Order: sequence, then structure tokens, then C-alpha cells
Amino acid sequence: MQTADETTALTRQIADLKRERDALILAHNYQRPEVQDIADHTGDSLELSRIAAGASQGVIVFCGVQFMAETAATLCPDKTVLLPVRDAGCPLADRATAEQVRQMKARHPEARVVAYVNTSAEVKAESDLCCTSANALDVVRSVDPQRPILFVSDRNLGHYAGRMAGRRVLLWDGSCPIHAALSTADIRQSKRDHPEARVMAHPECQPDVLELVDRVAGTAGMLAYAAQQAPHTSFIVGTDIGLIHRLKKENPDKAFYPATDYLVCPTMKLTTLADVRRSLERMEHVVRLEEPVRVRAGLALEAMLAVPSTP
Ligand code: 13P
Repeated sequence: MQTADETTALTRQIADLKRERDALILAHNYQRPEVQDIADHTGDSLELSRIAAGASQGVIVFCGVQFMAETAATLCPDKTVLLPVRDAGCPLADRATAEQVRQMKARHPEARVVAYVNTSAEVKAESDLCCTSANALDVVRSVDPQRPILFVSDRNLGHYAGRMAGRRVLLWDGSCPIHAALSTADIRQSKRDHPEARVMAHPECQPDVLELVDRVAGTAGMLAYAAQQAPHTSFIVGTDIGLIHRLKKENPDKAFYPATDYLVCPTMKLTTLADVRRSLERMEHVVRLEEPVRVRAGLALEAMLAVPSTP
């Protein structure tokens, strides 16, 4: 556990190094509170990809997991993208390999491949389009309705987007172990504990869980919902507890309760302030992608960024 003085010292050192290196620090909404607090931008996968794509700094420190840093490196070939903890992976992204996607494409040659952003650059390179939890519906709706969609890597998000958009979606056998573990019993219990609260859940949760909640949204959608739901002032949060820091900061007069105690993504919590400082000091760990993979993954990401967002 870090003392307040240590946190202050690390924060100052990071600010100095950031200036020296001409660096931009991005943090995902699931990062530790103190890491979110030193970042230039904290956001969801979609916002952070957009910010990375438009960044003017030469160095991007990505406080998140591997696929997020790879996304930034794909969109910013002329920048140095650093991932402070090399082993910060995503078990959902690990559920799909490029070879598996090639085999599925051979079996379904008529399908358009939509890769959830929680995939490796190699998988994105095999795909037509990417999506995040924030724009999955818009992306699925943008695909030629005559063609089925092969949705890689999250079965629950693919199911939700297909159902909401009324489109035929071939689902991948993969899910986020944290979100998929949230059960209907957990939701019912949290509603009993906080009967006045509105309930939000991430679309990576199971379909029967999503049936029970007031709002299905990614992390940016949850922030917007909590800000706008007057007169409601309390919310049950069906996603990683990291988001609660920002929810409370932006809505100090409202109450937020995790839907269960175990909604904690361990790899999202690996990055500490000391890791961020070391990353800037030593310029590590540089995300490197093979150029043909980067170019093809970039096409799928650019195709996603070109899909207009519905509010
Ligand atoms: P967001 O799309 O809200 O950033 O969520 C990303 C994620 O990894 C969910 O598990």
C-alpha cells in the first residue's frame, strides 16, 4: 500500500518525465484510481482509440491491456506506444487466434467479419471491421444486410448486437470471465439490497442478466446514463469496479454499488504508478507490430472509426 507522500512524489516524477518525453498518458476506465488520476485522458476503448489516432505527442503510454496498446500502435505508426506492464493481457482477446478466424472464414465465405476490439492485431488483420462495446450496434447495422456477420471474440456482445440490430450473427465461443460470471441471482440480490437503484450492465454479460437491467451499456454509456438519469441518484454497476472511481468523481452526490464483489479484472489492475514512471524512464515496453499485420488491422479499425455513431 502506497502512502500519500509516495503517491504525490510519483505523480510529480511522472509529470516531469511526461514533459521530457513529450508523452501522452491514456488510461482505461478500469485502471486503478490513482492511475486514472494521473492520465491525460481516461476513457473507454472507443474514446481512447480516437484520442490515440489524433494525438500530437510522439509517445503514448497506454495504461490498459495489450490489445488496447496494440490498437494505439496500429493507428499511430509514427509514434512510440508504451505498455507499462508487458504481461497485462485480456483473457477474452486470448479466445481467438488469426488461424481460427481464417478457418471460420473458409467455412463461412459469405460472412463479413466483425472483430471486437478485445482481440489481437493478428485477428483484427483477418477482419473487415472492428467494433467496441460502445459502437457494436452501429457497426453491425452498417454491414450489408444480405450478409451474415461472423462476430469475434465475445459471444454475449455478438448476441446482444445481433438481437438489437435484427441481424444474423454467427457467434464465437468466447467470453469475458469477469462479466460472464455475473449471474441473475447477483442482480436480484443487488436489487433487493438497493431497491431504489437503477441497474446498469455491460453487454459482455450473459443474455439473461441483460434482460433484468435498466440499461445495457459499455463504460462510456454507463457514465452518460448515470449523469442523465434525474431524479435517480443511485446505481448498481454491472462492470469492473474500476469504473466506480470515475462515476463517483463525476457524480459526487450520487451512490454507486458494484453488482457483486468479484467484478474485478485482475490484468486491468496490474499497472501501478511505479510502473508508469518506469515505463517513461526506460521507454518500455514498446509495442511492436509486424507491418503487414499493422496495415491490415488498421484498415479494420479505420472502417470502424468511419461508421457514424448514433447518440
Ligand atoms: P469498454 O468498451 O467500455 O471500454 O469496455 C471494454 C472492455 O474491455 C470490457 O471488458
